[in-house]
Amino acid sequence: MRRIPLSKPFINGEVRQAVLDALDSGRFILGPQCIEFERELAGFARRKHAVLSSSWTAAVYLLHLAMGLRAGDEVIVPSHTAFPSIEPMLHCGARPVFVDIDDTYCIDPDLIEAAITPRTVGILPVHLYGHPADLDPIVAVARRRRLWVIEDCAQAHGARYKGRPVGSIGTAAAFSFYPSKNLTVLGDGGCIVTDDDAVAERVRMLRDHGRRSKYTHEVAGFNLRFNEIQAAAGRVGLRHLEQLNAGRRAAAARYRERLSGVVELPVQREWATHVYHMFVIRTPRRDALAKFLIERGIETGIHYPVPNHRQPAIAAILRNLPALPRTEQAVGEILSLPIHGQIALDEVDHVCDCIIEFIRRN
Ligand SMILES: Cc1ncc(COP(=O)(O)O)c(C=O)c1O
Repeated sequence: MRRIPLSKPFINGEVRQAVLDALDSGRFILGPQCIEFERELAGFARRKHAVLSSSWTAAVYLLHLAMGLRAGDEVIVPSHTAFPSIEPMLHCGARPVFVDIDDTYCIDPDLIEAAITPRTVGILPVHLYGHPADLDPIVAVARRRRLWVIEDCAQAHGARYKGRPVGSIGTAAAFSFYPSKNLTVLGDGGCIVTDDDAVAERVRMLRDHGRRSKYTHEVAGFNLRFNEIQAAAGRVGLRHLEQLNAGRRAAAARYRERLSGVVELPVQREWATHVYHMFVIRTPRRDALAKFLIERGIETGIHYPVPNHRQPAIAAILRNLPALPRTEQAVGEILSLPIHGQIALDEVDHVCDCIIEFIRRN
């Protein structure tokens, strides 16, 4: 049976060679590959600084510490996102204040103002599935109320908001390089980007045992550094990102063409350059459809079945369960279809044929 995976990382001869060269270089941690990758990532996100760390989660924890996030602070965030979006703030003792999504599955900017309290310090919009959050009204409310904005770009490398790259617009932003992401380092990895010299410097220090020079530790830090082999792989991926995102968009266009009127398709705003980290359809018969597809070798995913406001990890933190009707409705109906930068259109056609067959039979 033909197997179609949900996602697949980009690995070619160039990646293999870059990894071998890094092995032979004799440098392993925070060497020239990391320095160059950071320089290229800063350029890519149109920022002064990029600082690599061992994951998005690690990088954002260090960013929160560097920006002074403290116990009792509140951060406005969608509930409909990966749990790690809120994990770093929890480690700082801050409280996530959950806001519902709009029809793009990103935070609804119209609901943010009402969620602000005297304890609110920032907003963390997530560019979910590769579609940018509506940043202009988010940044406007943040300016008015003196809040920071950290863009969660873990799923949106290369996406654009009104022509500007995501990651370039908020106070700071962060990317993940986990293997399924649009840009990967073939393992865990992440970075923050910012224009703030002091914040970048502090994150650099914290990731490396709190030091700026070898034997002087200015604060107690961590070992959340990055390595040469993965940086070398990531640099090749970054050079191919545009072309891989174009492959995702071509697959998405085919899904749209074939599945229009069959299932509910993802919304794309006219100002959005979507990079389709996920292609998420909706149907009330989601679980039966997923079962039907996996029996035909087609892997699907649910991103995410349990919204964060219902996660046991934060039951003790939430005073009352927030009312998030669009989130509650979405989590029971969403289904992520196979998509990656090198998926063939005949693979997409096979997935569509099977979905159409399921809908006809049911
Ligand atoms: C939206 C979002 N935010 C944050 C993360 C965390 O990234 P990482 O696994 O690199 O810590 C992920 C990936 O799981 C994600 O999809």
